[in-house]
Amino acid sequence: MKGIVLAGGSGTRLHPITQAVSKQLLPVYDKPMVYYPLSVLMLSGIREILVISTPQDLPLFRRLLGDGSQVGIELSYAEQPQPNGLAEAFVIGADFIGDDDVALVLGDNIFYGQGFSRVLRESSRGLDGCMLFGYPVRDPERYGVGEIDADGKLLSIEEKPAHPRSNTAITGLYFYDNEVVDIARGLRPSARGELEITDVNLTYIRRNRARLTELGRGFAWLDTGTHDSLLEAGQFVQVLEHRTGVRIACLEEVALRMGYISADDCFALGAKLVKSGYGDYVMDVARAAGATG
Ligand code: G1P
Repeated sequence: MKGIVLAGGSGTRLHPITQAVSKQLLPVYDKPMVYYPLSVLMLSGIREILVISTPQDLPLFRRLLGDGSQVGIELSYAEQPQPNGLAEAFVIGADFIGDDDVALVLGDNIFYGQGFSRVLRESSRGLDGCMLFGYPVRDPERYGVGEIDADGKLLSIEEKPAHPRSNTAITGLYFYDNEVVDIARGLRPSARGELEITDVNLTYIRRNRARLTELGRGFAWLDTGTHDSLLEAGQFVQVLEHRTGVRIACLEEVALRMGYISADDCFALGAKLVKSGYGDYVMDVARAAGATG
């Protein structure tokens, strides 16, 4: 399975912060936002990943993440010149996807929870059609909202409905089989002129090939779309990290735990960041895994 991180958009809801820099590069406490979704793909066992962003921002992502080899993954980059919708990712990424399945994660989505990597690996391995992830929220009208029957089967999805039929938001993580490329190519732009991910998902539902994993109360799915939610996401990460001493979405640690890099490689990555506590953490993790540095 391949992976796409979509980090486009103009971040207008966060202006003026995002007037000069991409939203997905803003800090969420101690690391850039894009680390969080990238770690989700890595934890799914995905190592070939395409980062899509605007022509202005793409060089910054490249500068931050390089070719990915330092954390044992293969990164490539593609431009989305206009905000033509999330589903355009599959049109832009068609050659990259080739004949494979593909996971799409939105560059501003933050997930955290016990057993998440197991859920991810099972979902990618047993994929048949598409797998969506639902999460209960107080304000479903801000999201794609799933309509679910008594057996938990996904009946329909509405994009930002005025009168939501449930409180289950469809999160920005989607696993698809290879049909997604043809489905995306066949979409018509919506009323707001975009290729909507919800229309892709509705096609899978109509074909009876969509499944939903409900991420329950033990999970956190955080939004970064407004000034308040961005700050709250940072505070959430800060509180957890202070309390437990464990860092969330530390790419070097994820790479080590997934067996993508050795303990000595991990130590060397930490050493480069030695002036920040982040670097110390990476070196500690590497030492505990047997690094000799
Ligand atoms: C997009 C999707 C929406 C989904 C949300 C998750 O909305 O269209 O269905 O619930 O991402 O973050 P956007 O954030 O682009 O408005």
